[in-house]
Amino acid sequence: MAVARGEFSSKIGFILAAAGSAVGLGNIWGFPTNTAMNGGAAFVFVYLILAFCLAYPALMAELIIGRHAKSNAVAALSGESTKVPAARPFGFLVGITGIITAILILSFYGIVAGWMISYMIEPIAKMAGAPKAAEWLTDTSSTARNVFFTVLFMVATVYIIIGGVKNGIEKWSTRLMPLLIGLLVVLIIYVAMQDGAAQGFKKYLLPDFSRVTDPELLVDALGQAFFSLSLGVGTMLVYGSYIQRNENLVKLGTMVTLIDVGIAFIAGLLVIPAMYVAQAQGVQIFAEDGVTLLKEDTLIFQVLPQLFNTMGATGLVVGCAFFFLMSIAALTSSISLLEVPVAYAVESLKQDRKKSTIAIGSLILAVSIVIILNFGMLFGFVITLTTKYAQPLLGLCFCVFAGWLWHRNDILNEVKEGHPDAENSLFWKIWPWYVKFLCPLFIAAFFAKSVI
Ligand code: TRP
Repeated sequence: MAVARGEFSSKIGFILAAAGSAVGLGNIWGFPTNTAMNGGAAFVFVYLILAFCLAYPALMAELIIGRHAKSNAVAALSGESTKVPAARPFGFLVGITGIITAILILSFYGIVAGWMISYMIEPIAKMAGAPKAAEWLTDTSSTARNVFFTVLFMVATVYIIIGGVKNGIEKWSTRLMPLLIGLLVVLIIYVAMQDGAAQGFKKYLLPDFSRVTDPELLVDALGQAFFSLSLGVGTMLVYGSYIQRNENLVKLGTMVTLIDVGIAFIAGLLVIPAMYVAQAQGVQIFAEDGVTLLKEDTLIFQVLPQLFNTMGATGLVVGCAFFFLMSIAALTSSISLLEVPVAYAVESLKQDRKKSTIAIGSLILAVSIVIILNFGMLFGFVITLTTKYAQPLLGLCFCVFAGWLWHRNDILNEVKEGHPDAENSLFWKIWPWYVKFLCPLFIAAFFAKSVI
């Protein structure tokens, strides 16, 4: 039985869904944390360059391949459009590895997103006069609490994905993003008025250029850029496949990149100064050496609550709103991760959407629970494996497909849909050779550096 494929109903629907996928814990938790651990503005500087020069071209490769094939990553890379037949099994492998990576990413993402929900409820518990419950809600070491909120978050993710593209993904993504930006801006203004903020702004905005060639910083920045734009696992390829043919892909991809990078930058503008404000108030943030963060979750779960505390009763409402919006941002990202295996199961394996969503969601939840039960050993390991290694390497493979293994004419014709003048555009003058030579080369060089 041929199943009709879903599509985004409008340009704005796609932009919000793809931006919803891109904007998530990576922007507001990952980016500031990486910035703090890599010495501040030097990291921001390198990140901005890599996001636009490496991640953006790779994003375009995924969007173009996706809309041309109108299918999931596995089918797209192992199908007819791959002009070298011998490369099709390789395409299959890349697609499947992407699916496994998406599953693993979602399994740790769901845990962190669960914390966001519990921190959202904590102020409510406080207001309701239940300090014991509030304490439990923020107790990182409680397995019961971690499992409970991860389950809750995964159930929400599964529920939305069962709804499909228009009723599920699009409807949710168009709702709350603007609110998140508004709240971030208000909080930045508040932070700027506190003692210690000036030092934070300096740290964030004035780069120490001697650090920009630090190999660890480079690898962290590349991984962060790929994670933030949801690259390498087929998320953007699948979303690209849901874009209507009359839309201009170049414009859409550029918008999504600008929104994603912009929100990460704004989040840093809040979190880094807030960190110095908290320090001025006596909260210990860095370990003895003065550079390593005490804990990876310090910034979001200690520094920001500390900031909200200084606002008195208003702080409870602000804290609740902030973590609510974080939960929503995580949700519009997690649905894009779950859609990767689901699209494959539905289209290529001809499974029922509802049944496969529940089955795959349960599998991911099982992996999450294994991680929670072996937290010290697995949590960091899975994050490093997927974001520092798998994602850039898979991104490289997508560039190789777009640059070497697909018919150039197919790609040009696809870009021309919704953008008739594409052949004479700046994009088409640069991008084809850029993804063919420079992107794979740079990514490979970075990768080699991180292994050595
Ligand atoms: N980009 C999202 C964030 O910043 C997370 C995400 C969604 C993702 N889909 C992805 C990361 C696919 C890697 C691959 O939070």
